[in-house]
Amino acid sequence: MSQMIFADSLSRLGTESAFAVLARAGALAAGGRDIINLGIGQPDFKTPEHVVEAGIKALRDGHHGYTPANGLPALREAVAADLHRRHGVEVNPDNVVVVPGGKPTMFFAVLMFGQPGVEILYPDPGFPIYESVIRYSGATPVPIPLREADGFAFSADAVLGRITPHTRLIIINSPANPTGGVTPRAEIDRLVAGLADHPHVAVLSDEIYSQMLYGGRAHVSLLQYPEIRDRLIMLDGWSKTYAMTGWRLGYAVWPDDAVDAATRLAINDHSCVNAAAQHAGLAALTGPQDAVQAMMAAFDARRALIVEELNALPGVRCMDPAGAFYAFANIEGTGMTARAAQDRFLEEAGVATVAGTAFGGHGEGYLRLSYASSRDTIRDAIARIRAIL
Ligand SMILES: Cc1ncc(COP(=O)(O)O)c(C=O)c1O
Repeated sequence: MSQMIFADSLSRLGTESAFAVLARAGALAAGGRDIINLGIGQPDFKTPEHVVEAGIKALRDGHHGYTPANGLPALREAVAADLHRRHGVEVNPDNVVVVPGGKPTMFFAVLMFGQPGVEILYPDPGFPIYESVIRYSGATPVPIPLREADGFAFSADAVLGRITPHTRLIIINSPANPTGGVTPRAEIDRLVAGLADHPHVAVLSDEIYSQMLYGGRAHVSLLQYPEIRDRLIMLDGWSKTYAMTGWRLGYAVWPDDAVDAATRLAINDHSCVNAAAQHAGLAALTGPQDAVQAMMAAFDARRALIVEELNALPGVRCMDPAGAFYAFANIEGTGMTARAAQDRFLEEAGVATVAGTAFGGHGEGYLRLSYASSRDTIRDAIARIRAIL
């Protein structure tokens, strides 16, 4: 019998528990249970029709081969034009690297800086892949606590106060998963001003929810700060905005000094993103945007509903999320831990949610509920939870 000996690093690689919840919910559903899934972070809408057609047309037109590793030139130009339209910034298409989704940019950025002896700052609660990949790289993950009292926004002082001579990268995410928190411009101004004292520190700004803000808020892109453009990696993509999670399409704007390394990582990893998906992504950026607006209007109405319903539950309170499509409910008053609530709500009420602790230690006492579901489904889910509380 053979006995494989894996690299030590493999034991440090974490995962995204939302996928485990999805698998468990799927198993329960396959066994005949009626399950409502508020666990997974993806829009329940379909990709806009004209985008799907562009993907099909690309296949019919024979776009079956490799593309440039960093993405089709027309797509990178469209990304630059879109960033100019939305954020008022100039981006050189040569600094754009198109990758299969949002995640590869995280992986590449952390691999570029992470090694033993290095510290990387990341939000807690935050997207679990940040911490996972930091650990995998051998670097030390340094959590930046995000607090309900601050609306789960980043505090410039909390970030700057954790920088040491060993810090190489800071990961920022606004609007945020799992909290829906949005960091106001004044706080980002202070953060960027403070970074002037730490020229050795790079920033990864995960702006995948940049088109998902509520209450008339405008997105603040870190690209709007020329003073850090030479050390900023800005991640965005199509998954959330255009309901394209399964197409695997995302991009980042890399600083001049890192773009070649990012492209080299892409060549080593996946060669290029599949050509049809890139053509679909081009249609998404250059075509009508009304589907995005309609989706956001629906999310906004659901947001109001889920927050109201959650706040009416005994022992539960929920802040109004300013962005993304997650409610991050405080469940301390129920007396349950986050994990116990996640398990009970799924097993007993048939409602899939994700424990706040899946997003870091500071998520204890919270539960993430994705409101990418219809209003009737949300009402039904909360009624089921109410029945067991
Ligand atoms: C904050 C954040 N960044 C990145 C991603 C990854 O997106 P993708 O599915 O495009 O890899 C997600 C997905 O949930 C996310 O929440």
